[in-house]
Amino acid sequence: MVRNVDPNPGTALHVRPFDAADVALLVSWFTREIEIVLWSGEAFHWPLDAPQMAKMIEESQGNPPGRTLWAVTTDDGTMVGHFQLVHDDRRRTDRLCRVVLSPTVRGRGLGAVLVRLAARTAFNSESAPDRLELYVYDHNAVARAAYRRAGFVEEGLLRQNLAVIPGDGNPTRISSMIVMALLRPEWQALQPATPRV
Ligand SMILES: CC(C)(COP(=O)(O)OP(=O)(O)OC[C@H]1O[C@@H](n2cnc3c(N)ncnc32)[C@H](O)[C@@H]1OP(=O)(O)O)[C@@H](O)C(=O)NCCC(=O)NCCS
Repeated sequence: MVRNVDPNPGTALHVRPFDAADVALLVSWFTREIEIVLWSGEAFHWPLDAPQMAKMIEESQGNPPGRTLWAVTTDDGTMVGHFQLVHDDRRRTDRLCRVVLSPTVRGRGLGAVLVRLAARTAFNSESAPDRLELYVYDHNAVARAAYRRAGFVEEGLLRQNLAVIPGDGNPTRISSMIVMALLRPEWQALQPATPRV
């Protein structure tokens, strides 16, 4: 199990594989269509239902899996976060996606803690990528700040990148995406030095 401690004393977060029994709690974190879009782009439609979740789980069960799914838990094992990794062997790159924290724990600086755990999970995985990248809506200021705090660098803007934002009575519009990435040496430089004995 990967472990990380947030800047606020008293909260430690851990990572374990996500499984079908976690689906109901994950789904409960989304109460509006716009939240699903922010989380997953156009991957899912409202409401999140069993067939969509079953397909997501299925994608993680190939050999090798198309994507790996992860649960982030507190000390007592309660899942409070989720993220996914998609591996591209040819580019020696993982894509971090579908990052989300339970609404009950947001706004306490745990976003960057989750992202650091995701980076450690990716860089220490068997596929051993040299680059961890992600795409985030340019208007998602909180997520962008959490990624930056965890060491990700904003590399560019994909303008009007076919990212349709519907819902909440707002007219559908096309949004732009920011590409961010963390390279292995950058991630290594962020790790605390091992004390010499
Ligand atoms: C993205 C997410 C994981 C971040 O976690 P969080 O607990 O809400 O955010 P944090 O408390 O860790 O704060 C993250 C940063 O946003 C900053 N922030 C908070 N409100 C902000 C605002 N309105 N505008 C800009 N920055 C803001 C915080 O100051 C912090 O930055 P800092 O570390 O530089 O101080 C969480 O908001 C979430 O699950 N969102 C819904 C799903 C989502 O958008 N996923 C991203 C998909 S790409």
